Amino acid sequence: MEEKIAALNHLFLDTAPGELLSWFTTEFKGKVSFSTSLGAEDQVISHFIAMQKLPVKIFTLDTGRLYQETYDLLAITRKKYDLDIDIYFPDPARVEAMVNAKGINLFYESIENRRLCCHIRKIEPLTRALAGVEVWITGMRKEQSVTRSGASLIEWDPVLKIIKVNPLIQWSNEIVWQYIHDHKIPVNELHLKGYPSIGCLPCTRPIQPGEDVRSGRWWWELPQFKECGLHAKH
Ligand code: ADX
Ligand code: SF4
Repeated sequence: MEEKIAALNHLFLDTAPGELLSWFTTEFKGKVSFSTSLGAEDQVISHFIAMQKLPVKIFTLDTGRLYQETYDLLAITRKKYDLDIDIYFPDPARVEAMVNAKGINLFYESIENRRLCCHIRKIEPLTRALAGVEVWITGMRKEQSVTRSGASLIEWDPVLKIIKVNPLIQWSNEIVWQYIHDHKIPVNELHLKGYPSIGCLPCTRPIQPGEDVRSGRWWWELPQFKECGLHAKH
């Protein structure tokens, strides 16, 4: 598989994201899914999918701790583009057991607690959402953080056993925002209030000018630990 992935990366080195998405939907018909957190990059990808009417299953993971602005954008996006965006929830029994055993705000107490919460609220639903899928599209970019600087356009996820495609991996923040403005793509209102990267409310805060774009996520942890597990290197 590694050779196949390397060959695909070479083949698509200079391919525009829309064209790349189109190739994968043809080659892996009915087996391509896009996970959106409704972040700026994800909104660009949803725009590509909607404009090209690509047969991609789109889903979001509702952890139960998101911002109202994120839910508002979910509703706006579904309506504007007439897109089906499936919503996956965590297993209520597991959330109940976790918060009753460890507290409603357990994530502030230790990295283990934070990872457990991310696992129950994000990873388990992600695994369900990707069952039977062969290609997983994400909005990751290299520039986002130290944990992503080594990421590639096309990768193999050895745990989920799936091909991961990151069409905007090389895009800079400026290119993302230029594209959003040029195409009047709806975005989360929080981006205008100092939140470049938005996750769950208790684990996200605004950043100061010049700070790393993901520094407002799990701000109490060291940069090298700041992955929830969706994109961890296994
Ligand atoms: S995270 O792992 O730290 O939360 P980030 O917010 O940077 O990730 O988003 C990177 C990519 O992960 C997004 O482009 C999206 O593909 C996926 N992702 C993150 N959070 C979610 C979510 N709640 N629902 C669906 N996809 C998500
Ligand atoms: Fe839980 Fe925070 Fe992870 Fe959301 S980001 S799943 S609230 S630890």
